[in-house]
Amino acid sequence: MSHQRGFVWGAASSAFQVEGATTSDGRGPSIWDTFCATPGKIDDGSDATVACDSYHRWAEDLDLLAALGLDAYRFSVAWPRVVPAGRGRVNEAGLDYYDRLVDGLLARGLKPFATLYHWDLPQPLQDEGGWVSRDTAHVFADYAQAVAARLGDRVTAYATLNEPWCSAFLAHLTGEHAPGERDAARAQAAVHHLLLGHGLALGRLRAEAPGSAHGVVLNFTPAYPADPADPADVEAARRHDVANHEVFLGPLLGDGYPPEAAERPHAAASHAREGDLGVIAAPLDYLGVNYYTRTLVRHDPHAPWPHAAAVPAAGAPHTDMGWEVYPDGLEHLLTRLAQRTGLPLYVTENGAGYAEPETVTGEAPLGDEARWRYLSDHIAAVARAREAGADVRGYFAWSLLDNFEWARGYTRRFGLVHVDFATQARTPKLSALRYAEHVAGSTKPAPAQDVKDPPARAGRTL
Ligand code: FCB
Repeated sequence: MSHQRGFVWGAASSAFQVEGATTSDGRGPSIWDTFCATPGKIDDGSDATVACDSYHRWAEDLDLLAALGLDAYRFSVAWPRVVPAGRGRVNEAGLDYYDRLVDGLLARGLKPFATLYHWDLPQPLQDEGGWVSRDTAHVFADYAQAVAARLGDRVTAYATLNEPWCSAFLAHLTGEHAPGERDAARAQAAVHHLLLGHGLALGRLRAEAPGSAHGVVLNFTPAYPADPADPADVEAARRHDVANHEVFLGPLLGDGYPPEAAERPHAAASHAREGDLGVIAAPLDYLGVNYYTRTLVRHDPHAPWPHAAAVPAAGAPHTDMGWEVYPDGLEHLLTRLAQRTGLPLYVTENGAGYAEPETVTGEAPLGDEARWRYLSDHIAAVARAREAGADVRGYFAWSLLDNFEWARGYTRRFGLVHVDFATQARTPKLSALRYAEHVAGSTKPAPAQDVKDPPARAGRTL
């Protein structure tokens, strides 16, 4: 059976982007509901009250995954469904949905990979400060425990957070994401409280679901010097990675906040209380890696620290997100992360967003050759990283379905499967068929290893 292969092939989604049904069965409001209702925040003025209606159409979606011959589905659990007020009463009707989803996956031979926080913070918690408030870390752990108490080790792998970089910086610094703040100091407070929430939740998850793997998902947009021959640009690229990646990796791996970030005014490190770093550095079973693109940077002394200004990659292919297509970056990243972390790695998101037609005839699949080129070139990069020794155990395409793409609304589509949002018809694109062929034809790349038994992390004391 396909799911017994050693390497896990999957597709990913997130609750807010696909579920819809934002007021059903006791779900409370989230910061993204509020953000969507705020004029000017979403490109097409849309919201996710219906989205892909996966809350009702989940069985059809799982059938699609099975028809593609995939091994696993990465989905997220909506905190406002499970704990509508953010703290306190657990809504069993909300948990019922994920219970059905997990059983539906298992019945189809698919492994459930569940993410606890993919950005949909309960609005009542935002009203108390959201991730800027330390208390949010504690109530996140309570929520995570409630989920794991119900789903248990039927879930193959739990991830606490998806892309805390976005939850900190896009949400609190650039204002592109909910709650739309623009305040560097508050963004740094959010970094620490997200990490603390991760660590507190990890302990609860492990206690409730000892048979599952437990980890976290980070996004990486590795910096490369605009002029590799200019030492100032090389340094700027290094500082960019410190400010954006090491600030998460360091604490998670037990190395603490990088000193040059920690000494900045209002740094995340300034919010750490005694014992926090130990909580955050709880051992991980795996690291989830989301990769879409790289960034080219030039040293810019006038820009705020890390004094690195992004410059366009002239002449390079880009998706309709404006993101450069750079598969080698994934190979480099996985190779570096394998050495840096010693952890099993999963590519938990990788994909390409294009402005595609709202309707398809269904007579022929949508010819999204560019998406399949993107995916296959990145899958090849994963294979090269594995050959170089990186312990990469799975790859999840973003996304199974076209869905609500945050601030871009429905104007950018990432799906392997086209969704007609007027009718909810699902139609696999060419990329879905090619991906299914690839998965069916792929030989087992390495002996099956179970993520529940990660290798000893030599040389690192936690
Ligand atoms: C990632 C998000 C995911 C999706 C992709 C395109 O940053 O985790 O929800 O929007 O980008």
